[in-house]
Amino acid sequence: MFAKKNKSRQVEFQDFLCGSSSMDYIFQENSYEEQIEKAASFINGADAILVGAGAGASAAAGLSYTGKRFTENFSEFIEKYGSFYMRDMYSAGFYPFPTEEAKWGYWSKHALLNRFEPPALPLYKELFDISRKKEYFVLTTNVDGQFQKAGFSAERIFATQGDYAKIQCQSACRKKTYYAENLFRKMDAARKNCIVPSELVPKCPVCGGRMAMNLRCDDFFVEDAQWHSQAERFAGFLEFCKSRKVVLFELGVGFNTPAIIRFPFEKLACENSSFILLRLNKDEPFVPKSLGNRAVGIGGDMAQAVFDIKNRLEN
Ligand SMILES: NC(=O)c1ccc[n+]([C@@H]2O[C@H](COP(=O)([O-])OP(=O)(O)OC[C@H]3O[C@@H](n4cnc5c(N)ncnc54)[C@H](O)[C@@H]3O)[C@@H](O)[C@H]2O)c1
Ligand SMILES: [Zn+2]
Repeated sequence: MFAKKNKSRQVEFQDFLCGSSSMDYIFQENSYEEQIEKAASFINGADAILVGAGAGASAAAGLSYTGKRFTENFSEFIEKYGSFYMRDMYSAGFYPFPTEEAKWGYWSKHALLNRFEPPALPLYKELFDISRKKEYFVLTTNVDGQFQKAGFSAERIFATQGDYAKIQCQSACRKKTYYAENLFRKMDAARKNCIVPSELVPKCPVCGGRMAMNLRCDDFFVEDAQWHSQAERFAGFLEFCKSRKVVLFELGVGFNTPAIIRFPFEKLACENSSFILLRLNKDEPFVPKSLGNRAVGIGGDMAQAVFDIKNRLEN
């Protein structure tokens, strides 16, 4: 078991991040079957798995932010604010809502639909089945709580970009977050024409100012005590991984926020000859050529690939 890392020698999260993209990307030419076999054998032989999951993992699991799932659940909002801004659940979150009542009218619905209502989804449960047999850790930019729901230990998940379940002071006057499920449920019951009543609009208990979702979207994102604790555990896990056989299991990470998982995973694989990069990505499965045999890039829908890999694993 890995411990929290000694603070004085800690690899800070910022040090882990890497801004340089790979210069030698290739699409691999072996067949899908060969890639699945290779992926399964790397996992079978690994001491540890570092899961790195981006938006594509939850999209593959069923939490699509586009198409019918968006237009059917947000028809009222699309009609009110127009389809130019209200294109999908990602862009809708950036709409300049004119009032706090309108802002919370949107976000309460978004949080309930993506964070609180969905049960643990089958894809995440399969990922847990794969990971639980090894020492594992999850690094994710997802904010929908799926890893924890599926059984991954909260102590082994570092969600760097926040959590739909939490709100914070908009100007980050304190490094505190507040669990908001009950508030969102009250808002949902009281929402009319996309707006929630003024009495439900939260105010910062410290400065009395506006509140915001605890999501990294500006310089005022609150990294609370739990965030720092997980950053330390993550550093401890990286330390534990040194000289061990590690699979960097990257799932649906594109170029929206590549500096948090995608580029650092390439860097880790490049610097550690016992690390394997296993990249599952529908449209961007290319991997650094320089990693040679130590990289597998599998395109297409990852739900199928995860299922196929799992079926080839030893018990
Ligand atoms: N569920 C969530 O919590 C959620 C959802 C959307 C966005 N976000 C936020 O938005 C940002 C997104 O960054 P990102 O770099 O992860 O996203 P991105 O949009 O850059 O990349 C998503 C990647 O997933 C791949 N993908 C999509 N569907 C897939 C499927 N079915 N199978 C395999 N691969 C698939 C795409 O090819 C793409 O490369 C993050 O900061 C995150 O916090 C979070
Ligand atoms: Zn405040």
